[in-house]
Amino acid sequence: MIGGATRVAAVIGYPVAHSLSPALHNAGFASLGVDWVYTAFDVAPGRAGEALAAMRVLGLAGLSVTMPHKQDVARMVDTLDPAAKALDSVNTVSVAGDGRLVGHSTDGDGFVASLEAAGHGVRGRRICVLGAGGAARSIIDAMARHGAASIDIVNRTAAAAHVAAALGGRPAAPAAVADAEIVVNATSVGMHGEELPCEVALLHAGQVVADIVYQPRRTALLRAASSRGAATVDGLGMLIHQAALQQQIWLGRRPDVEAMTAAAEGQLAAPH
Ligand code: ATR
Repeated sequence: MIGGATRVAAVIGYPVAHSLSPALHNAGFASLGVDWVYTAFDVAPGRAGEALAAMRVLGLAGLSVTMPHKQDVARMVDTLDPAAKALDSVNTVSVAGDGRLVGHSTDGDGFVASLEAAGHGVRGRRICVLGAGGAARSIIDAMARHGAASIDIVNRTAAAAHVAAALGGRPAAPAAVADAEIVVNATSVGMHGEELPCEVALLHAGQVVADIVYQPRRTALLRAASSRGAATVDGLGMLIHQAALQQQIWLGRRPDVEAMTAAAEGQLAAPH
């Protein structure tokens, strides 16, 4: 039951109507038995500062931050955690005991956690990341902090790969995919049909191929990787684990990721 003492958390973004976050966060709160509720607020571009002011006034207990506000929020909170600082991007806001707003970035650690949950550690591994945008940067930063042996960055636009390399990788040619033990698609390629982010002939048995795209869940890349004998990890795990890390920040406790996954799968399966 929602009552006067219920704590409110929410995602701010634009648009957020189809966000999976309310379903999976409310499942996480239920698994912890806490009196928290999670909703979604459409916040127009450029108005994240007002949303943070509202957070203070209304006493919101936590915010998730998504497109297009991640960078604005990084510049408006009182403190940043190391990942948010390195990335100049915030996906989570918490409230410190003294009322200061703290910005965090759980995307990259969420991705690493999803790989680990699938049985694939990052330490000492040769990684190839496809893409150099916001998602790719968070993954490169986390992989470097988790002890990857090397991180090759392959991107359509070479200049972006050079910028992302400052986080702990190196720009590379497309053929670098073949040398990697873990290949990560961190581009948006695959969200809209059969397009592939790399040449299929570069994929092989012994590799792990992970996608950040989760709609469709079995992307053309993952299907091609499976057919060539590689292990695969789909993108839903990153979404779940970055959210679980948000709850850990807000509540100091780890929610049940299986309950969160079931809730996300239920919404993905529901007719739109
Ligand atoms: P996100 O926040 O989801 O990472 P982004 O910052 O816009 O989104 O980054 C999108 C990434 O997907 C970029 O690496 C982009 O490559 P460019 O830097 O060359 O733009 C990549 N990308 C998007 N569409 C692509 C396509 N059709 N082919 C190859 N790469 C693509």
